[in-house]
Amino acid sequence: MGQLTVRQLGFALGGEVTGIDLRGPLNDLARRQVLEAWHKHLVLVFPGQDLSAAQQIAFSRNFGELEDNESLPYYRDPAHKEILLVTNKPLGGKPSETRNTGRNWHADLTYTPRPAKGSLLLCKEKPAVGGDTMWANLYLAYETLSATMRDFLDRLEAIHDFSLVKGIEKRDPEKVAELRRLNPPVAHAVVKAHPETGRKSLCLGQRIRGFVGMTEEESAPILAFLNEHAASYEFTYRHRWSVGDIVMWDNRCTQHVALPDFDQTRIRHMMRCSLLGDPSGRLLDGEPAVEDKETLLQTLAAVS
Ligand SMILES: [Fe+2]
Repeated sequence: MGQLTVRQLGFALGGEVTGIDLRGPLNDLARRQVLEAWHKHLVLVFPGQDLSAAQQIAFSRNFGELEDNESLPYYRDPAHKEILLVTNKPLGGKPSETRNTGRNWHADLTYTPRPAKGSLLLCKEKPAVGGDTMWANLYLAYETLSATMRDFLDRLEAIHDFSLVKGIEKRDPEKVAELRRLNPPVAHAVVKAHPETGRKSLCLGQRIRGFVGMTEEESAPILAFLNEHAASYEFTYRHRWSVGDIVMWDNRCTQHVALPDFDQTRIRHMMRCSLLGDPSGRLLDGEPAVEDKETLLQTLAAVS
């Protein structure tokens, strides 16, 4: 193994790690160096690592327990439940349901009460050009808001809803109904302190229905502003994939989007391992997802 080197890739986030072979066990020093670089750069790219599924799983386990993808049972690698296939390769003679996955800004699994801590995505096949992924630094998104806005958001919870995954209406309706049942709406704090760095960041994305205790009408413009702000170019890094790249991102302080900037008739085949996060959200258990404006108006009519 050579000398592990980290090179900054983007102004806001992104670092490239070379001089490390991920096929074998990682020693303690290398593991600590990777973790340190991860906390500093948030998204790490390891080029030239053409791992098997078992090797990817073994490498990912250095950083925590792995998600078994129970919330997305149809999209797992049949031989390895820890691997989610993000692919446009037909599966079982049918178009892949994950061929358009991740087409809006999101952090992984925030529609569950245990969003992923991080993910490791390996590129196995890709078209000659395109199929890029962008990440955004959500620490910076939070820190560049006014003190008044930060104070307001510090007390807010957002409702994350699997139904808002982009393109879901094009998937198999029976599977989607089952996935909705497995993933009822869940409320998460809009601002979370990172457990390792202590820095506050936004927990955001375009799979949010509204804010707890507010109406959809009240929530929509705030959400639109936050989503636009968080995707500001100066907070982003855009990765142009090569086969054999593994990208490891911190899901607690970044969000990402998979761009459709490629020839969709060409194969793009990726394998994802996700690190199990801490339990953090709460299910609404019959509580209305957002306040109902009609009911509020009726209440007003009754008291006036
Ligand atoms: Fe994702």
